Amino acid sequence: QELADIVRRMPKAELHIHIEGSLEPELIFAMARKNGIELAYPSIEALRAAYAFTDLQSFLDIYYAGAGVLQTEEDFFDMAWSYLNRAKADNVIHSEIFFDPQTHTARGVPFATVINGLDRAVQRGREELGVSASLILCFLRHLSEADAFATLEQALPFRDKFIGVGLDSGERGNPPEKFAAVFARCRELGLRRVAHAGEEGPASYISDALDLLQAERIDHGVRCLEDPQLVCRLAAERIALTVCPLSNVKLAVFPELGRHNLARLLAAGIVATINSDDPAYFGGYLNDNFTATFEALPELGAREAYQLARNSFEASFVPDQIRQGWI
Ligand code: HPA
Ligand code: ZN
Repeated sequence: QELADIVRRMPKAELHIHIEGSLEPELIFAMARKNGIELAYPSIEALRAAYAFTDLQSFLDIYYAGAGVLQTEEDFFDMAWSYLNRAKADNVIHSEIFFDPQTHTARGVPFATVINGLDRAVQRGREELGVSASLILCFLRHLSEADAFATLEQALPFRDKFIGVGLDSGERGNPPEKFAAVFARCRELGLRRVAHAGEEGPASYISDALDLLQAERIDHGVRCLEDPQLVCRLAAERIALTVCPLSNVKLAVFPELGRHNLARLLAAGIVATINSDDPAYFGGYLNDNFTATFEALPELGAREAYQLARNSFEASFVPDQIRQGWI
């Protein structure tokens, strides 16, 4: 009980949150009504009941459908503002927020509408909530590299509104090498780089994300334990993994939380962090992820709680001067 309190109250950074995955059913229904969009579910309860996933793709189908209600700059602001308030309640003092522009531009929503709405929430979060936040643009890996390049082109006029790029969506069959050229271009532009790897895909996708995309952080990465040499490399080079325990159980990466490998990752010296991924879909925000995981894994104690919080600041992309003050 005391440990759960420490875990909830300690300041943390969140480094793996898809803003479209923070869209609660209540907001989906409110925006659908406002924007005159017909939903495939008759009620909030029916929509929530459909959140029974068997794997990553079964989640992505519902997640992209939910994001279809977002139309105006106000909608993107409201979504991010709601998340930032929720994050503050969990003592998140810094968040690096993923967004999926292609999900919206493919529906005819201008890139400017998406990023201006999100950026307004980020600015207001800093001023009114004291929560620091930045945006990371994710390319959808089930689409082509040419599509990613076109998205990057649309994003460049807004270069000051995002700090880096990531890679998400269906992992299997969409290896890092597919996006090597666009990530090389992003690196030239001074953008920070992360990639989802080793969630459903093999450990080799983690090495390839490091070698071929120059990824600085790996999202999920839990399958690294299948490759002992890779584990040594991640630990030695202090390459952080942004682990999402509740997500991993909902998408059947692990059969139950008690079988999660987070304690083993930490014991191996890996800079692992805890994150919420898509909190509206996976049953919890950051503190829910912390408390459920600490309850399920008896190996985790106060030392690990402190380590996880420290790791989240060490692995963040804030300027070195601020980061040093945090760790
Ligand atoms: N994996 C891949 N793509 C995603 C995820 C995820 O966990 N969440 C939102 N898009
Ligand atoms: Zn994710």
